[in-house]
Amino acid sequence: MRKLIIANWKMYYGPVKAGAWVRAFRRERLPKDIDISIAVPSVSLAAARSSLGRATIPALAAQNVFWEKEGAFTGEISPTMLLEFGTSMCIVGHSERRTYLGETDEMVAKKAAALQKAGIAPVICVGETAVQRKKGQAKRVVKSQVANAIADLKPDGRAQAVIAYEPIWAIGSGKPCRPMDAKEMHDVIRDVVSKAWGARYRDEIRVIYGGSVTDRNIYEYGTTTGIDGALVGGASLDPRNFALLCRASSPA
Ligand code: PGA
Repeated sequence: MRKLIIANWKMYYGPVKAGAWVRAFRRERLPKDIDISIAVPSVSLAAARSSLGRATIPALAAQNVFWEKEGAFTGEISPTMLLEFGTSMCIVGHSERRTYLGETDEMVAKKAAALQKAGIAPVICVGETAVQRKKGQAKRVVKSQVANAIADLKPDGRAQAVIAYEPIWAIGSGKPCRPMDAKEMHDVIRDVVSKAWGARYRDEIRVIYGGSVTDRNIYEYGTTTGIDGALVGGASLDPRNFALLCRASSPA
């Protein structure tokens, strides 16, 4: 399976800076054997698309979406609107949205299903807090997040879901989850998927890791079986550094 590395810019870079980032990144040497995507703020999708032109590397992703097609939902953005920018993926359920915007498992499930219906691959974020891990609840928490999120999804077809395991204590903390510990949780996630969809999807679903990934540690994740890539926040903000991280990810 091809590895997937997604830049999550979070709430950085409006249209002006987004365009400049894309132009700088496109000048970098990039590995051809991995998929690279950039999740940009909604207001920067147009600028990123215009700097990309028809190019598909990096693929354009959004950071959030609403589940309805259109209507009286002030401030929200629909999957079909995202499609107008050639958006092929969209993050849902990032822990920052769960924490600050009150996003629930039910909302995450609705968003993921709406995206898939429109042909956009949902990147579903799950992960436990430090306290939950300490109390030995991490697996239970993540299992239930995954089961709820994929309840209305189809295993096959276009716009296949990606699961991003992002332990909250590892995000932006400089304290990444050890690759072997991440792998252990990825196996738990695959068990849930295989129970819901059937055994063959255990290995067909892409499960990526996020939380303090840098150009220095990406190689360890990239070479650990069961880790299909990374969701990268802080280390994606500089286009040259993110290109370096992409190059460092694979043994080639
Ligand atoms: P980080 O963020 O790489 O800065 O830890 C990851 C994320 O929140 O997606």
